[in-house]
Amino acid sequence: MKRIGLVGVGSMGCNHARVLRELGGVGDLIICDTNSKLVNGISQKYRIASCYKSVFEMMRKEKLDGVVLSTPTDTHYEIAKSILEYEVPLLIEKPISQNCNQAEELVSRFRDKKIPLMIGYVERFNPVIHQLKQVIVDIGIDKVLHINLLRIGPFPVRSSLHTDGVVLDLSTHDLDIIHFLFGLKIARVFMTTRMGEKADIYARALLEIGNDITASCEWSWISPQRKRFVEVFTSKGCLVADLSRQDLFFYNHAPTDLDGDQDHFKLLQFGKFQNEFTKFSVTKKEPLKEELIYFLKMIDNEAGDNSNQPVALMRILEKLYESSHSRGYVDTNECYAEY
Ligand SMILES: NC(=O)c1ccc[n+]([C@@H]2O[C@H](COP(=O)([O-])OP(=O)(O)OC[C@H]3O[C@@H](n4cnc5c(N)ncnc54)[C@H](O)[C@@H]3O)[C@@H](O)[C@H]2O)c1
Repeated sequence: MKRIGLVGVGSMGCNHARVLRELGGVGDLIICDTNSKLVNGISQKYRIASCYKSVFEMMRKEKLDGVVLSTPTDTHYEIAKSILEYEVPLLIEKPISQNCNQAEELVSRFRDKKIPLMIGYVERFNPVIHQLKQVIVDIGIDKVLHINLLRIGPFPVRSSLHTDGVVLDLSTHDLDIIHFLFGLKIARVFMTTRMGEKADIYARALLEIGNDITASCEWSWISPQRKRFVEVFTSKGCLVADLSRQDLFFYNHAPTDLDGDQDHFKLLQFGKFQNEFTKFSVTKKEPLKEELIYFLKMIDNEAGDNSNQPVALMRILEKLYESSHSRGYVDTNECYAEY
């Protein structure tokens, strides 16, 4: 049974506390948050072994097998460095840090000391993303034309002050999904943003993936409805994945009039398609639970780095901002160097 520390028990940390408490492999759960009201609430709700207000005190006093870090992103770098001093495996909520330099330093330091470091890209553990990947393989990646990623909703409810904008908050999930689905590099990016008082609150991005696939992304905190969708347009039909409901549909381009012309685009243009669709059966699982199970395996050296390229993701994120300032496309091939 493992002794796990959880730093930050706000909106996301609460979910970690609930799921960690459900996991058979976790014995003592120790929590830490600067907000004592939250700490009291969580410790009454879940079986918590001890509570701390300071991460330094927690690390000094407790012998831990792993730590989950779920504080605001601008605190990740300093807290992660102090946890590393105790050589304890760490799961950091996404994104790893506020900028590339911090991400590079953290990844190198953990790698040098051979301490497991995982970043909470929870969509990698969403069963609908796994099913989508399998169907893309079955159809053939060479048939993929375009991918549309939608991650929109109202402003996040947070219990403390964050300095992030919507792009830092949401984009790396989708960049990670693209890497996971296709195993290809993102080659060029373009982004336009809408600023709020302090940070970006809405963004649209266009990406070029590998040699041939294009992508469009929408990241929003100003949309009334929460939606998480991935649509993959292929020359054989369109796949629509609803990440929240864990539903996957395939809208088949079935020709209604086989007059010898097999050009799918021409057939689409002249309305010679039936819109048949198939709903795949997806076995629903809680992605956060799968992610934490993976982390426990990493602690035991039973699961390796799941290659979510945290540094490349942060570099691409900076290129997205560069593009929104320069108002032009920016090359991202160099983002993959070294990592
Ligand atoms: N994976 C996902 O889908 C997902 C979803 C939401 C948030 N997140 C990430 O989770 C992290 C936390 O976001 P949130 O929405 O839960 O924020 P939040 O503000 O609700 O919670 C953060 C908590 O950290 C505490 N805290 C701040 N500084 C601290 C310190 N030095 N030591 C101990 N506790 C400290 C705060 O008191 C607060 O309770 C962010 O990095 C965010 O990007 C990930």
